[in-house]
Amino acid sequence: MHFSAQLTVLAAASLVAAGPSVVGPRQSQKVTVDLNKKYQVIDGFGFSAAFQRANLVVNLKEPKQTEVLDLLFNITTGAGFSIVRNGIGSSKNSNQDHMNTHLPNCPSSPDGTPAYVWDGKDSGQLWLSKQAVRYGVKTFYGNAWSAPGCMKTNNDDANGGTLCGVSGATCRSGSWLQPFANYLIKYIQYYAEAGVNVTHIGFLNEPDFTASYASMLSSGTQAADFIKVLRPALDKAGYTSVGINCCEATGWNVATQHMQQIKSAGVEDMVFAFTSHEYSSRVGSPMNTKRHVWQTEYSDLNGGWSTAWYSNGGAGDGFTWANTVFNAIVNSNLNGYVFWEGIQDRATNNNNNEKLILVDGQTYQVSKRLWAFAQFRNVRPNAIRVGASGGSNLKSAAFQNTDGSIAVVIINSGTSAQTVGVSLSGSTLASPTVSAFLTDTSNDAKAVAVATATDGTASASLPGRGMISFLFKGASNATVV
Ligand SMILES: *[C@@H]1O[C@H](CO)[C@@H](O)[C@H](O)[C@H]1NC(C)=O
Ligand SMILES: *[C@@H]1O[C@H](CO)[C@@H](O)[C@H](O)[C@H]1NC(C)=O
Ligand SMILES: *[C@@H]1O[C@H](CO)[C@@H](O)[C@H](O)[C@H]1NC(C)=O
Repeated sequence: MHFSAQLTVLAAASLVAAGPSVVGPRQSQKVTVDLNKKYQVIDGFGFSAAFQRANLVVNLKEPKQTEVLDLLFNITTGAGFSIVRNGIGSSKNSNQDHMNTHLPNCPSSPDGTPAYVWDGKDSGQLWLSKQAVRYGVKTFYGNAWSAPGCMKTNNDDANGGTLCGVSGATCRSGSWLQPFANYLIKYIQYYAEAGVNVTHIGFLNEPDFTASYASMLSSGTQAADFIKVLRPALDKAGYTSVGINCCEATGWNVATQHMQQIKSAGVEDMVFAFTSHEYSSRVGSPMNTKRHVWQTEYSDLNGGWSTAWYSNGGAGDGFTWANTVFNAIVNSNLNGYVFWEGIQDRATNNNNNEKLILVDGQTYQVSKRLWAFAQFRNVRPNAIRVGASGGSNLKSAAFQNTDGSIAVVIINSGTSAQTVGVSLSGSTLASPTVSAFLTDTSNDAKAVAVATATDGTASASLPGRGMISFLFKGASNATVV
């Protein structure tokens, strides 16, 4: 016991004796992790397969199907994603890429009995979610782009419109707040019956944008009206642990307004995470809330399909995404970061970069964006971000997982290779074993050699514009005084 405390003392003594030179590669740069400096808790990293994209994986034959699932969920060989954002369908049919609803027709009045219809597929998302469960994924975010059209002012699940019954939206048929809450709970029940526990629920998508597909307009104030009905309904149904996420604005500025309006309405505490996309404005300074904050949808919608790690900093580059996710987690204290589509076909949107993996019939191609996310795969849900600093041209972040292990993620912003050393301060890990893996132009989260100096500093070589992640695991924990 208290083994590492002794080690620290010994290491300090040997450092004094040995002077500045250390065993192993020359340390041109040093990152110091401070476990006593604690920041936000991490909920995870994820993607969506909404709008029937999940079916692309459903339809893949083996061994390709397992290969793609491993790329998405495997913690040792793939991205190790820990959040799946599923679209809750609102469309009456499955034409084109529509997500069909489990309530194609409303009862004639809000207090009537709803005739739910569940197809057991949910546009391929239920199958994909079950696979995710097999890989250990525990966070499933069910997100309705809209209420069924029959609950809205425009009687259509597409083209904007507002939920009947929120402030400023009265309908002759009455208020549909309670039926919409019941409808979302029914979705959670269908998933639970299939072995997938929905942990978070959302009821809007880009409510500041009228889309020709499923969409529903809402301010933060109107969202608060519904949250006041949804929270007690979830609790009454036994889903006290299911968190409400809100409101999926097109960008950070609007998301911040939503958060303020929800605060003003007095229901901030009923929200699990405030959610934003990054299309109309990028994730900026940390939101002023006690609740969690997630970025839940972003991608390069304009660039043609690219698998490049670095091509002059293009919006679809893996290296750009490494920095995008890093900035959100480290500079804006986000608790979760969710990409847009995990998989997509070639035909949709002229084969752009809004996906991580291109699934083209029975073949697939993997973008470096996926490998940028993979560099965060050892940051497991409920990890705490801790202090990390040091080194020029280095961006570093560190996280302590609930099992005590420590993941350190480092981006080399410079163009030349350097040897990077990582030392832990305040660690409770006894005799840690250290592994590291690297992504750059020619490597995909590849395990690389780590040298450990007598003072415990772990070093590895990091190419220019490369990204490396170290994982420190302890044989057992010990306390440092
Ligand atoms: C992840 O990949 C490893 C290596 O191929 C494999 O042994 C393991 O079974 C995979 N994990 C799951 C949950 O399939
Ligand atoms: C889902 O939740 C139920 C009830 O809390 C629990 O018994 C079950 O193990 C959970 N399933 C998974 C896959 O986590
Ligand atoms: C190490 O510490 C963590 C966090 O305090 C704890 O959850 C874990 O069980 C411990 N592991 C061992 C092997 O003692």
